[in-house]
Amino acid sequence: MFQNDLLRGKRILITGGGTGLGKATAQRFLELGAEVYICGRREDVLIATARELGERTKGRIHFRRCDVRDPAAVEEMIAAIWTEGSLDVLMNNAAGNFLARTEELSLGAFQSVIGIVLMGTLHTTLACGRRWLQARRPAVVLNVTTTYTESGSAYVVPSAVSKAGVQALTRSLAVEWGNRGIRMNAIAPGPVPTEGAFSRLLPRPELEQLAKQKIPLGRFGTVEEFANLAAFLVSDGSGYINGEVVTMDGGEWLQGAGEFTALGRQLTDKEWETMKPKKPLPTK
Ligand code: COA
Repeated sequence: MFQNDLLRGKRILITGGGTGLGKATAQRFLELGAEVYICGRREDVLIATARELGERTKGRIHFRRCDVRDPAAVEEMIAAIWTEGSLDVLMNNAAGNFLARTEELSLGAFQSVIGIVLMGTLHTTLACGRRWLQARRPAVVLNVTTTYTESGSAYVVPSAVSKAGVQALTRSLAVEWGNRGIRMNAIAPGPVPTEGAFSRLLPRPELEQLAKQKIPLGRFGTVEEFANLAAFLVSDGSGYINGEVVTMDGGEWLQGAGEFTALGRQLTDKEWETMKPKKPLPTK
């Protein structure tokens, strides 16, 4: 899909890069010539991913253990990375989510998800942004949001409020920092199967069919499709895209939003026939 050196010379940090979408994107960025840092909370996972992707792509990958909820730990990580050279791209991918009835959630549950998704994104973005602005260096931030930022969603309220905040951050800083060469965009993925997210959000396998019926394309997205979109958005080729949230969901949210969609899908061919005008439609 891209020239093999699309991201050559770019130094990129992917938070939550040890697993799931972050790991798949790290692999794609390495294949396209980037030097990649991944961070996450579990060192054993990071070690395994860095080794696996390094061997598979022959690219330069580094890892740092860091819980993005902790501003001091983020500052320490970013400072350490900068001693090896500035980053060019920050991808805020680390997330946490669970299906739960909101009234049953503890304050700690809210704090955990908001801490990772919203505050974590803020911590890394500020730590990198301040350095880029001071050095007058162009850079790119790519955030991962979701298709329910505008609508909200029942049963994932900590995630919904956090991702809505990340979307507001994306658009706000696209304007505030754009005049100094920092682009801010986001991807809003629909369902893309990964171990971490799917075991939490689709607890029963038979719910998969139900989930697919909500998608016009009739299937889930793939991590490769996500990673390719991410590669495009962090590359210089998308240099005029700023403040954009690109939805990648097979049309899922539009199908849910359209007033007559569900109704129309229930009608039989015979019923469609009866609704046609009695006299034939003009051919010209
Ligand atoms: N339902 C309700 N509450 C939950 C929960 C669940 N499934 N899982 C955790 N919590 C609550 C805990 O009870 C705790 O609250 P408390 O302190 O008031 O008791 C709080 O959340 C933190 O839980 P903890 O076990 O300390 O987890 P954590 O903060 O280390 O991590 C997640 C929480 C969400 C990040 C964890 O589930 C995780 O690691 N997820 C993997 C990443 C992920 O979710 N990816 C999907 C992205 S879409």
